[in-house]
Amino acid sequence: TRPQILVARGVFPETIARLKQHFDVEANQEDVVWSKDELVAHLQGKQGVFTTGSERIDAELLAACPDLKICANMAVGYNNFDVDAMAAHGVVGTNAPDVLTETTADFGFALLMATARRIAESEHYLRAGKWKKWSYDMFSGSDIHGATLGIIGMGRIGQGIARRGAHGFGMNVIYHNRSRLSEALEVECKARYVAKDELLRTADHVVLVVPYTPASHHTIGAAELALMKPTATLVNIARGGIVDDAALAAALRDGRIAAAGLDVFEGEPKVHPDLLTVPNVVLTPHIASATVPTRRAMADLAADNLIAFFGGKGPLTPVTPPVARA
Ligand code: GLV
Ligand code: GLV
Repeated sequence: TRPQILVARGVFPETIARLKQHFDVEANQEDVVWSKDELVAHLQGKQGVFTTGSERIDAELLAACPDLKICANMAVGYNNFDVDAMAAHGVVGTNAPDVLTETTADFGFALLMATARRIAESEHYLRAGKWKKWSYDMFSGSDIHGATLGIIGMGRIGQGIARRGAHGFGMNVIYHNRSRLSEALEVECKARYVAKDELLRTADHVVLVVPYTPASHHTIGAAELALMKPTATLVNIARGGIVDDAALAAALRDGRIAAAGLDVFEGEPKVHPDLLTVPNVVLTPHIASATVPTRRAMADLAADNLIAFFGGKGPLTPVTPPVARA
């Protein structure tokens, strides 16, 4: 008999068709965001699940779904997985790395430029019919070229942003990471390792690309915002919870930093109400990897993980230790 698979959120019809060549598939193509109890109910009898990052896979769910062997996330981040609980239950987790690196780095740069050059704010002004005359200081922002770019989190996406900044815009790139890059990578990215406080004090633009873990919770809070230049911009394309959104909204309102660009939010899709009322923030709905080819590649990789795993080849991009539920 074929393995039973649940696709927990809406995805490309082609992905469903492909999975159906290998598995018996229940697909949530209405794209209902299920409660935990509903997800558990749909998972009964399923050996595999295709997740998108909004489904929390924890000890409670795993205990209630004894047939489950693999969870394939269509996302590079996997903070929706309790990997320790999954390992304890012998359940494999996979993510979707690499295929989104350059697309996501492009978006990080787009959000940085939109933020520093006040593109969203000025567009709202124009659309609202407020543009009556040009003036010398209208929507003056800060420069990208030649500025100091501080990247916190120097994984593949962070390195992609560094290369864009250094090679494309002549930026002075500094970075902070749990571990230093190899010398060869530092040379390629033209990036210099510094302590986090030094980065916050000296960067003109700070971009966050760290994975969310309990240790990275509120990497940027009131104390860190206070270290930043009043002219600085902050961009978060990592995860909600890396930034203390309430503290950021207060800093933006009080002019303690110049502007922010946010693609991810604490408790998204809810957005802190204070962020919705300050003008100097660009807000996007978690779309950094959203190009047609990249979202397809991410869906394909999640599907490939399920197909390889049940085909006996093992998962392609596991994030849990190599143990499988017997
Ligand atoms: C999106 O946020 C991802 O982790 O791929
Ligand atoms: C994600 O691929 C990262 O390493 O930043």
